[in-house]
Amino acid sequence: MKLALWASFLCYNFYMSKLDDIVSLCKRRGFIFPGSDVYGGMAGTWDFGPLGVMLKNNLVNTWWSHWVDQRDDMFGIDAAIIMNPTTWEASGHTATFADPLIECNECHSRFRADKLVDGYSESITTEEFKAINPACPNCGKTNWGSIRKFNMMFSTHVGAVLPEDESGSESDKELARRSIAYLRPETAQGIFTNYKNVVDTIYPSVPFGLCQFGKSFRNEISPRDYILRDRECSQFEIEYFVHPNTWAENFETIHKEYLDFLTNKLGLKAENIHELEVPEEDRAFYSKRTIDIMYNYPNGEEELMGIAYRTDYDLSNVAKASGKNMEYRDKITGETFVPHVIEPSMGLERAILAILSEAYYEDEMDGETRVVLKLPENLAPYKFCVSPLLKNKPELVDKAREVYNQLKAKYTFVTWDDSGNIGKRYRKQDEIGTPKCIVIDFDTLEDDTVTVRDRDTAEQVRVKINEL
Ligand code: GAP
Repeated sequence: MKLALWASFLCYNFYMSKLDDIVSLCKRRGFIFPGSDVYGGMAGTWDFGPLGVMLKNNLVNTWWSHWVDQRDDMFGIDAAIIMNPTTWEASGHTATFADPLIECNECHSRFRADKLVDGYSESITTEEFKAINPACPNCGKTNWGSIRKFNMMFSTHVGAVLPEDESGSESDKELARRSIAYLRPETAQGIFTNYKNVVDTIYPSVPFGLCQFGKSFRNEISPRDYILRDRECSQFEIEYFVHPNTWAENFETIHKEYLDFLTNKLGLKAENIHELEVPEEDRAFYSKRTIDIMYNYPNGEEELMGIAYRTDYDLSNVAKASGKNMEYRDKITGETFVPHVIEPSMGLERAILAILSEAYYEDEMDGETRVVLKLPENLAPYKFCVSPLLKNKPELVDKAREVYNQLKAKYTFVTWDDSGNIGKRYRKQDEIGTPKCIVIDFDTLEDDTVTVRDRDTAEQVRVKINEL
């Protein structure tokens, strides 16, 4: 028993320290900073620094190129973040997008009730919760208030509404009430509300997908686990519209294609990905099948993304709430039907942490610990780093600048480094995941060859400049 406890303690510390190492690297090297850092932070928000934004853009471009540009059956959309509030009435978010909130009567900290007890079910009552009586994670006491539903949508007022309108005359109050709008809690609804516009303008053949990448906002009760649960996040969402009779095979196809994407394009190892077939009682009420794709993060297994069969729930709700017909007419058979939907939905921040966890390695080189990010080439912020061997030799610097300009024109994502000694430059580029370092030395001036050093193996080869 003692041995098992000790082993799990070691395991916990190993994983926590790997996450700490990633957090520290991300801050040290300009990938990810706490949001509003200079003012002491803003819980649940994170800022991407110069290298982080390059990694993020590379991920977005990889996703967009794979799912939209390279396919004939997928199209892009970029809808507004603030949508007509009817959207959220129709989708059910106003009524049901809520977490169970509970407050400790002693220290007044607030928590998600479902995160405090094992096997929490949505139907749990305050009395049942109190019977289990978990300790408050903040003060350790067990004096709880009632479970209340907390809607996670951020609201705002749109238009010229003054704070005093909310307590003013009945007409002012009505103005204030009618001006309430929400920051979208998912990008998906911007797709459903544009389905008819797309069908009427480009008339795609079913099955077809509409893809969107963008910000979503959720007022999470307890943001946590670094960038895994944020109040402002970004989502990659696809709504794949299918004939109702073909949902099952389309689900399988999208599912398989997404797993290939995660492993081949994002570099995630299959052994770190686990699937959870969500049982009926845990699925959203509109979903007939959901698979959660879990990733083995350094701090434990967490949902990376989900694939859900949402039936015609959303389009039918849009039809009801808008009074517009959402039926699709088959171009060949003339059959009309409301398409059903398969929805793969992935968070950008969760994908970034999975990519970083997979890429982060420590090994030993020249008697020292080396930190290296073995990022796939398509995601690495820089593809090449160019350096003169010595920065005080103008002939080397001039030649290196010439090579740098040549590569920059061809590959764009090329960096220059002439700081410190060559060993230090290699370490820095290893840490930020640059796949190749190119060094210009005295031999270059004689034979137009350069040293190309590989990030993962540290092997060096001589290559002609015109073959780079
Ligand atoms: N349209 C369906 C939908 O939004 P979801 O399971 O609530 O479904 C989909 O979210 C994905 O978005 C999650 O699998 C996760 O990757 C990401 N996500 C959701 N909430 C998040 C949060 N608070 N912080 C970071 N990512 C989040």
